[in-house]
Amino acid sequence: MDVWIEPEADAVARLAADFVQDAVGAGEITLGLATGSTPVATYRELIRRHREEGLSFDRVHVVLLDEYVGIAPDHPQSYRRFIRDTFTNAVGIAPDRVHGPAGDAVDLAAAGADYEALLQRLPPRALQLLGIGRDGHIGFNEPTSSLASRTRVKTLHPDTRADNARFFADSESVPVHALTMGIGTILEARRLVLLATGDTKAAAVAAAVEGPVSASVPASALQLHPAAMVVIDEAAAGGLAHRAYHAEVAAHRPAWQRPGAGA
Ligand code: GLP
Repeated sequence: MDVWIEPEADAVARLAADFVQDAVGAGEITLGLATGSTPVATYRELIRRHREEGLSFDRVHVVLLDEYVGIAPDHPQSYRRFIRDTFTNAVGIAPDRVHGPAGDAVDLAAAGADYEALLQRLPPRALQLLGIGRDGHIGFNEPTSSLASRTRVKTLHPDTRADNARFFADSESVPVHALTMGIGTILEARRLVLLATGDTKAAAVAAAVEGPVSASVPASALQLHPAAMVVIDEAAAGGLAHRAYHAEVAAHRPAWQRPGAGA
C-alpha cells in the first residue's frame, strides 16, 4: 500500500483531487465515488478546478459504492441525491451518467446482480475513492464481510447507524440495511484511493494498513490490491507503527509515483 500522510485535511483533499484529475484525463472512464463527510472537501476542490481551471468531466461516468435500502434516488438522504447535490451537478456530469445500487428495488438480490452487470458494461473504473468507517468498513461492508463479496445487501452495524444518524432526523430513521458493492467488486477498480482524516479514524487506518488482512477489518483488503493509495492527515496517521518509515518513503518518492506523472 502506498501511504501518503499530509499535514491536514485540506492537503488530503488537494492530493485526492490530483489523483482524480489524473484519472479523468485518461479518456472515457468510470469514476467510483464515495459518500460520507470525508470526501466532501475533495469534491469541493474538484468543483473549483472545474470552474477556475477548466477541468472537464465530459467523459466521466460515476458509480457509487452503496445505497441505503428502501430509499428512493430522490430522497434527501439517498446517496445518489447526495452525490448529485454535492458534486456531479456542479461539474456537469449528467444525472443519467451517475449510477448507484438500486436500494429501493423490490428484488434486492436482482438489483445487486444488475449493478454488477452495469459495472461490466461501463468504461473501465480507473479510480475508486473510498472512505473508512470507524470499524474499518469500506462502502457498507461491515466487519466479517467476505473479502470476495459482490454487490449485495448488508445489515448495518449499530455503530455505523449511530455515526450516520447525523444525516437523518434521528437514529431510528437510519435504515437497517444497505445495498453495497462487495469487497471483491471494489478491488476490481484499477486504482483505489482511501481517504481518512481526524483521530477518530486512526485505529481503523492502522488496522487496515498494518494489521493482518482480515474480514474483521474490511479495509485491510486494500493490501491485496496492486495500486492502493491511502491518503490521510497526521491525525488519522496517529496509530501507525511504521510512521517514520512512511516519512522516509515520502522523502524519497520517485517522481513517477506523484500525481501528474501519467500514472
Ligand atoms: C458511510 C459510507 C462509507 C463511508 C463511511 C465514513 O458508512 N457508506 O462509504 O466511508 O460512512 O463516513 P465519513 O467519511 O462521514 O466518516
